[in-house]
Amino acid sequence: MGTEAQLEPWFSAPPSPYLKWAGGKSQLLETFTGSYPPSFRRYFEPFLGGGAVFFHLCGLRKIQWATVSDSNKALINCYVAIRDNLEKLIGKLARLQEHSKDKDFYYKYARPTFNAIRLKTGLEGDIEKAALLIYLNKTCFNGLYRVNSRGQFNVPWGSHRNPQIYDEETLRAVREWLRPTAVQLLCADFRTVLVTAEKNDFAYIDPPYQPISTTSSFTDYTSQGFSFSDQKRLAQCVAELDAKGCYVMVSNSAHEYVKRLYEKVGKKGHFETVYAARAISSVGTGRGNVPEYLITNYRTHYD
Ligand SMILES: C[S@@+](CC[C@H](N)C(=O)[O-])C[C@H]1O[C@@H](n2cnc3c(N)ncnc32)[C@H](O)[C@@H]1O
Repeated sequence: MGTEAQLEPWFSAPPSPYLKWAGGKSQLLETFTGSYPPSFRRYFEPFLGGGAVFFHLCGLRKIQWATVSDSNKALINCYVAIRDNLEKLIGKLARLQEHSKDKDFYYKYARPTFNAIRLKTGLEGDIEKAALLIYLNKTCFNGLYRVNSRGQFNVPWGSHRNPQIYDEETLRAVREWLRPTAVQLLCADFRTVLVTAEKNDFAYIDPPYQPISTTSSFTDYTSQGFSFSDQKRLAQCVAELDAKGCYVMVSNSAHEYVKRLYEKVGKKGHFETVYAARAISSVGTGRGNVPEYLITNYRTHYD
């Protein structure tokens, strides 16, 4: 990408997440501010989810070029619809807003239609699927995105009192910052994306967390889940990025396995425990202050 293509600081409204996403980082952004490298070349975020960190860095005017991705096809389709077909998407969301308190509509129309639409069989279907993802996210239990082994979204109705399905200004700001000349948006496994990073690039790595216990386990963002062998594959990728001279920042649960996987990288840089209010289990309603690790391969503002 050439210099003329980079994200310019004159973009006005800072973007923010338009979805609630399990494991989202919004509440940790203040802590993260002192943990980013002071400057870097290209930004990589291969577990994008709701994009809290990407949008935060955009707002701080730290991003010039980025590659952001996730292996969840429905999620990336939604970002693409915002980038390429926002007016149509907003039209559909306005109609869905009328059903924001309609449990029957959720079970009889929204959820089955979302599951029935196959992506890339037509533009209209892709945009409809994106609108339904946003609708389901705002009306389902805990804003969870969970699928079964056949990839069917199966989260129940959330009984929210008056859910706002979308905020037009937020969606417009998100589109502004997804300029295709500066931001590459991909649906891919993390490794495919991370191997393209080079010296002085910065990668923020926020995978599905290694479960602390069976009741707190939540890794079903995609039908493949995220196993311990995926965690090891990821740690290997991080070691490769480190060897190439990239800046790497990793989030994961405060688990003994995670400590072992990133001990060496953390010794070079920074290894910290941070606390976030999280749902205690994916099915319960309890929330607690849960410790998680934040690891960098470079010295941070806190060192
Ligand atoms: C903890 S969430 C990321 C949350 C995000 N940082 C935020 O603030 O919303 C983990 C993400 O990893 C994605 N994911 C799961 N397996 C993946 C894989 N093999 N490659 C890339 N992304 C994957 C999930 O779809 C999910 O969106």
